[in-house]
Amino acid sequence: MRIISQPRCGPTSKTEITHPRLSPISYRSQFEDGGGSKAEAEGRYASPRLLCVDSVCCERTLGFMGEKFPKKQKQPGLPHVTRRTFLGTTLVSGATLLAGGSSAIFGASSSTGTSANPDSMWKLGGDLPVNRLGFGAMRITGDGIWGWPADRAKAIKVLKRAHELGVNLIDTADAYGPEVSELLIAEALHPYPKGLVIATKGGLTRPGPGQWVPNGRPEYLKQCVDKSLKRLRLDRIDLYQLHRIDPKVPVEDSLGALKEMQQAGKIRHVGLSEVSPEQIERARKILPIVSVQNQYNIGNRKWENTLVYCEKERLGFMPWSPVGGNRGLNSERGLEAAAKDHSATVYQLALAWLLHRSPVMLPIPGTSSVAHLEENMAAAALKLTPADWKMIDALAERA
Ligand SMILES: NC(=O)c1ccc[n+]([C@@H]2O[C@H](COP(=O)([O-])OP(=O)(O)OC[C@H]3O[C@@H](n4cnc5c(N)ncnc54)[C@H](OP(=O)(O)O)[C@@H]3O)[C@@H](O)[C@H]2O)c1
Repeated sequence: MRIISQPRCGPTSKTEITHPRLSPISYRSQFEDGGGSKAEAEGRYASPRLLCVDSVCCERTLGFMGEKFPKKQKQPGLPHVTRRTFLGTTLVSGATLLAGGSSAIFGASSSTGTSANPDSMWKLGGDLPVNRLGFGAMRITGDGIWGWPADRAKAIKVLKRAHELGVNLIDTADAYGPEVSELLIAEALHPYPKGLVIATKGGLTRPGPGQWVPNGRPEYLKQCVDKSLKRLRLDRIDLYQLHRIDPKVPVEDSLGALKEMQQAGKIRHVGLSEVSPEQIERARKILPIVSVQNQYNIGNRKWENTLVYCEKERLGFMPWSPVGGNRGLNSERGLEAAAKDHSATVYQLALAWLLHRSPVMLPIPGTSSVAHLEENMAAAALKLTPADWKMIDALAERA
């Protein structure tokens, strides 16, 4: 096996993937109703709307809700590392790899930002070891990230399978479902296996159709933390991320609230989402920040500067939409041949590209499908030489 070395990032693509318009679903939240509802305690919702009561601020996250996500089409005949070769022959070694025994493939632990040999492990906050290929639990909810999934058993299976495959970093948010993603995670995996890190988020609300409204008010955020703790059945949240910085609230106040929660023992580490290096610098004056979650993938490098900052400062960088989100990868066409050459799919190639891009990279691909999950996780075993990486990089940039 060839040891991967990490090329420095080349010129960045200007391509940007944005979310399509949200469909008109109005939304009211049960978020600040003073405690979990009966249905929440029982883990059942007739529909999100039935249980949603206005919050103090009439706002509640509903990231991407109402969106209809177009399903991506697989290329007929394309070889898949996961199903045909990886799972069939090396699932155990793949799981071992994902569980940290990957040095044979990924090389020795890398300790500098863009050095060679991307490790399969990262220590969040310096004390929480996670496998770098995580799982994003936004897609296990209902259509449009709204309500319960049509097939709840399938969502549970996806979560359990993620754990079986060695995933020990699951990203979620109070907004997904809303609340459904957190509740499903607890239903599938509680009591949690040792070492499982659940990263959740709060502070982004959606009061109505097509509107995304951050709420960084301290009292609101504190309630978000308490409710996530309850839904996730945790005493402490390992990683709590401020979903968005609220321009109407000084970030010192928002993060001051999270600091209080941290001091109260309810949060272990704090992360940020969709932030610039300057915003991270400002946040770090208030409390330690261990990770950043920004949109980033092979076809969208808008946040390259933040990634470079995270590398320099040794902060985990969790790219959301690592395989292009609901828009897919703009560069898919260009990547198809290269994927074929590696007996992989474009999804796997895009994930491998990310993992090789930086040792601080912690992709959290999301899926509602066990087959896609297995395929994505197998990307950790995909070896790219520096020449491969550069070629793929160039292909994507041409797209
Ligand atoms: N911080 C933020 O503001 C923010 C925003 C968005 C998301 N996130 C987080 O980031 C995670 C990932 O983001 P994302 O879900 O938007 O984007 P993504 O992981 O890039 O893409 C997910 C989409 O790709 C499809 N997909 C995944 N693997 C596939 C495969 N192997 N073959 C074909 N299709 C595949 C999924 O459909 P199927 O279900 O059919 O597989 C789904 O529609 C989320 O789960 C969430 O935790 C954070």
